[in-house]
Amino acid sequence: MKKSSTVLVSPEEMEKQKQFSELVYAKTLEFAAERGRKPLAFVRTFGCQMNEHDSEKISGMLEQMGYGFCDGFDEADLIIMNTCCVRENAEEKVFGHVGSLKGLKREKPWLVTAVCGCMTEQPHIVEEIKKKYKNVDLVFGTHNLHRLPELLYRVIDGGVRVYETSRTDNEVAEGVPVKRCGNIHAWVTVMYGCDNYCTYCIVPYVRGHERSRRPEDILAEVKELCALGYKEITLLGQNVNSYGKDLDGGMDFAALLRLICENTPIPRIRFMTSHPKDISDRLIGVMAEFPQICNQLHLPVQSGSTELLKRMNRHYTREQYLETVKKVRAVNPGISLTTDIIVGFPGETDENFEDTLSLVEEVRFDQAYTFIYSKREGTPAAKYPDQVPEEVVKERFDRLLALQNRISREINDRFDGAVVEVLCEGLSKTNIERYTGRTEGNKIVNFTSPENVTGRTVKVKIDNVQTWSLEGSLLEIIS
Ligand code: 5AD
Ligand code: SF4
Repeated sequence: MKKSSTVLVSPEEMEKQKQFSELVYAKTLEFAAERGRKPLAFVRTFGCQMNEHDSEKISGMLEQMGYGFCDGFDEADLIIMNTCCVRENAEEKVFGHVGSLKGLKREKPWLVTAVCGCMTEQPHIVEEIKKKYKNVDLVFGTHNLHRLPELLYRVIDGGVRVYETSRTDNEVAEGVPVKRCGNIHAWVTVMYGCDNYCTYCIVPYVRGHERSRRPEDILAEVKELCALGYKEITLLGQNVNSYGKDLDGGMDFAALLRLICENTPIPRIRFMTSHPKDISDRLIGVMAEFPQICNQLHLPVQSGSTELLKRMNRHYTREQYLETVKKVRAVNPGISLTTDIIVGFPGETDENFEDTLSLVEEVRFDQAYTFIYSKREGTPAAKYPDQVPEEVVKERFDRLLALQNRISREINDRFDGAVVEVLCEGLSKTNIERYTGRTEGNKIVNFTSPENVTGRTVKVKIDNVQTWSLEGSLLEIIS
């Protein structure tokens, strides 16, 4: 086991942030007295669930500082863009938005614009913002999210631009307020960072080393969520299976799951992401033992070719991946499996790609998130000489997508006419005459119901099947 290296951000530092939070609060009160309304914040999130949850923390801190919230750039007095840099197109989107906000700042001189998240952990991006986007007032990174009150205060009190991405790489901040997006499902971070250094991936460089939260802090958060009426949690980490390696006391992810199952009444638990190299028999066993752990697993394969997996630094072969799937299915029959796949990794031959297609056929994932390889400066793969031509990648990508769509549809077709158990999360955002929820296997179900069943577990009779969702009507309420 590694020596314990993760430390908590000190109580003094957290107290200091609280004081800054009060100073900003005084400023928002002034704003409200002048304009007859609270200043409004718009937090725009790009990227993964980790970022979504970070935005919930940003909103939690802003709420404490007296901000209200709006859903668009135009009404906002404070704009925070929480960015992603996993693929280049995510970065381009952010720059597009930042550029388009220049006019807004002229109309509203008091507007504060901030950019944070993974993109801003790259020095060349910060330089670009400094030089080309003078309308950005505040830049902060993933490692100092908890210092938002102090940084924001420096901007609004001093009228200066603030760039703060320097980082300590071994800290975990506890006690940051969270304004959650939902009231049935909640994200709970169990660990930050990644030490895997897959050769295509920029995450370890921008999110830093693996740091686990203490089990007692996680447990306290889950208990609090239960008390607030939450019914489902997703435990988050770049690689949850590394949980505990940096803690004293022999905790691992399987033990953490057991701890949560045995000490809280939370009805449903999911987790992501699991690295295939680290799926232990203990984890598979715990998943089968506790019914509250959903029968669902996100297991990114990235490629079906052992040769490519080696060059990706994934530490498993095609055969080992298939073996893991077999083991998981033997213990958890009917488990819903999802994956991530990269197409066009440097040096990917037709044969390598065929290996990916055949693996997809063999495993029959419920869903696959497919990505075109994006060259990320600073990663080893960016220097690999044999980048695959764009048209070849595009053609492969379309073939993979068509194959997976067919499989997803075939799997969903089996639900036609079936009765499924759904945890209702509320009204559907796209059709307010329907409720929406998920099965244990994470299938989205939209259904009609004569009464409001938000937060209830119900039986739904499926009468229509789509590639990405199921539709039906309420049969009975279970709990
Ligand atoms: N290009 C394309 N996809 C990537 N991913 C990570 N880095 C890259 C990259 N450079 C994908 C992986 C990962 C998911 C979150 O994003 O499939 O599992
Ligand atoms: Fe990136 Fe690999 Fe870490 Fe996932 S496990 S965040 S793909 S380096």
